[in-house]
Order: sequence, then C-alpha cells, then structure tokens
Amino acid sequence: MKALKSFVSAAAICAAGAVSAAELEVTHWWTSGGEAAAVAEFAKAFDATEHTWVDGAIAGSGGVARPIIISRIIGGEPMGATQLNHGRQAEELVEAGLMLDLTDIAEAEGWRDIVNPVRLLDACTLDGRVYCVPVNIHSPQWLWLSHEAFAKAGVDVPSDWFEFVDAAPKLKEVGVVPLAMGQQAWQTELAFNAIMVAVGGTELYLDVLSNKNADTAASAEMTKVFEAYDAARRLSEGSNVNDWNQATNLVITGQAGGQIHGDWAQGEFQVAEQVAGEDYTCLPGLGVNEVIATGGDAFYFPLNDDPDIEEAQREMASLLISKEVQVAFNLKKGSLPIRGDIDLSAANDCMKKGLKILADGNVLPDSVNTLSADTRNQIESLMTEFWNDKSVTVEAVQAAYVDIMASAD
Ligand code: GAL
Repeated sequence: MKALKSFVSAAAICAAGAVSAAELEVTHWWTSGGEAAAVAEFAKAFDATEHTWVDGAIAGSGGVARPIIISRIIGGEPMGATQLNHGRQAEELVEAGLMLDLTDIAEAEGWRDIVNPVRLLDACTLDGRVYCVPVNIHSPQWLWLSHEAFAKAGVDVPSDWFEFVDAAPKLKEVGVVPLAMGQQAWQTELAFNAIMVAVGGTELYLDVLSNKNADTAASAEMTKVFEAYDAARRLSEGSNVNDWNQATNLVITGQAGGQIHGDWAQGEFQVAEQVAGEDYTCLPGLGVNEVIATGGDAFYFPLNDDPDIEEAQREMASLLISKEVQVAFNLKKGSLPIRGDIDLSAANDCMKKGLKILADGNVLPDSVNTLSADTRNQIESLMTEFWNDKSVTVEAVQAAYVDIMASAD
C-alpha cells in the first residue's frame, strides 16, 4: 500500500509541473583535508534532493579563488552557487544586481530569528535585502599547540601567547620551529589581527579595525602590538611552507610548536585523527583575550535566466541553513554553526570553547566585515613584507599602517 501511495504522490507532483531537477556548479576554495570533508557534507545533502551538486573546487584558498569567482560572475559566466566570506567581498557584485535576492526565503523561514549572532545575516544584507546564506562562523584568533613538540622540548604546553613566546627558545634547541606560518599574504594579516586583539585588547581592536581610527593606529598601545608582531615573525624561521594547511601539518606532526590560525585548522587535526586536549591544545584569543571575531563563510547565488537553476538555488539556500546540515558541516569544518538551536553534543573540546565564548557574547566583527577588500589587500601586502623582510622596522611598518588606516574605507 505504501509503495502505491508514494507512486501516486510522485505522479501528482510531476503532474503539478514541479520544476525539473537541475545541476548546480558550486565554486569554493575548500580543498584541504578538513575542508573537503566538510564541503562533502553539503554536496551529500544537496544530492539527496532532486538536484545535483557539481563541485567546482578552486585550490589556493580565498586569495586565489575570489578573483576567479568574481571575474566569472562579472564576465557573464556565472556558476550556480559560490562560497565567499560574508561581508564586503561581494558588495560590488550585489550592487551591480548580479546576485539572487534571497529575502523572501529568509523571511519565510525566519532567518533573523535563527541566525546567531544576527550580525552574520546583517553581513549578507544590503539595503534591507538578503543576498547570501551564512553557513558558519569562522574565527581567526586561535593558537594551535602541538603536545608532541612541547614534550620534545621538555616544556609544559603554554596556556597563553606570552608563555608560548617564552617557551620558543626551548623549542628551537630541539629543532622545532616555534611558530608555523604559510607564505600566503592573508595568513600574516590574520596573525596580526589576532595579536592585536590579544596584546592590544578589544577596545583597541575595535577602534582600529571598525572605527578605522588612524590616531589609535599610531598610538603607543599599537606600538606594543607591532613589537609583539615583530617577536612573532622571528619565531617562524624554518617554516618553509606556502598553504595554511601545510603550516597546520607542521604542528600536527610536531615539527612546529604552534600556529596562529582560524578554527578551520581544526578540520586538519580531525582528519589526522588527533584529539583536542590530548594531542593538541587550542587557545581562543591566543589564551589572552577570549573573543571570537564573527567572520565566516556564506553562499551566494549569481543570477541565472534558467528557472530550474533558480529553483535549485533557492532549495540549496534553505538546505545549507537547516539544522541537520549545519551540524554535519560545522563538525567536520571546525567552525561554529550560524544557529543556536541545534544539538552539538558531538562538539569537541575546541568547538565547546568557541560555543561558550559565543554564548557569553564575547564576539567582535571581523575585518572582512569592516574593511573594504582593497584596504584589506593593502594591509595583507604590508604585513607580508614586514614578516619576510627583517630589515623593516617596527616604526616603519606602523607608519605605513597608519597611512593605510588614514584612507581606509
Ligand atoms: C575561509 C574558509 C577556511 C579557509 C580560509 C582561508 O573562508 O572557511 O576554510 O579556507 O578561508 O582562505
């Protein structure tokens, strides 16, 4: 009887002229082990509908993928869906009217009541209209520490950034690189902002990155931040890798003591079957100032003139914010879910730390939400130059930073 009923209902749907199945090409830059495991959860869920996920992974992280994605959309060769960081990266695409308006779905499904913190949805909203579905909170300010490396050096695992810096000579004595760092420019900018919020504090971080206050950028407090950053760059000698996940692998294998990096590093530890609290330690806010900057990833849907594609885009938007998909994806990604009404009992030690900080409201905007892509690119270039050229002084890099902030938008 059940088979007959399901046959009849399926026939009824077809008869009603339901939109036919579509293939969506999805571009993203999740190509490391942990990232691939996470995005596979999205693909699996979408393939369980009548539609098909055509994976368009672009290797090389955001700095490489974003220009490719943006030029395709502007050039009239849009993909069906794409990952970007929510915030100002897609601002020009949305203003050009190239992106699907998701407001009716967001209102019908109550996204403003679901998304937590709601600033994530604000980062998808322009002139009151919603153009992306946030899929995670990824926070950059974590220090990842290898238990193996510190055991090798005969030193306790540090409980904060300052203890880490003090332990560095012992790590070097046993041939361990104290601080792993990849060569992509955004990684050195990430480390700078993390040290700013840890060493300079929340108020300083907000005044510089949200208020774009050049006077504060020139202050004595910021000089202390640049001095700490100077110390950090001297700890990465020997970290001869390019991609962020290669740097994470140095920590996983005990070749490096630690890495300042986002929560997505956790996906790599999970793929390596390492256990938080046993094989590695994660310190949010570098163990000094436990805050989370609520940057994150979101999915955008370039306008397509095919109604089947648009229907599939709308279905994908709903799917990615659904409870079960949020749990499956974020547990593999190492990021935090964008909704507070789900069961994360399977969360590990690090995710639990992040969830508590979120629940306590210790959240900050990420520079991806407060600075234009152009301003961020200038800062990334400056920080990479400073990190790699030890002849550049603290005074020089701070003066150049002040100039950038003076014209930041
Ligand atoms: C984030 C992404 C991370 C990592 C990072 C580096 O947007 O969620 O997994 O790829 O960018 O580009």
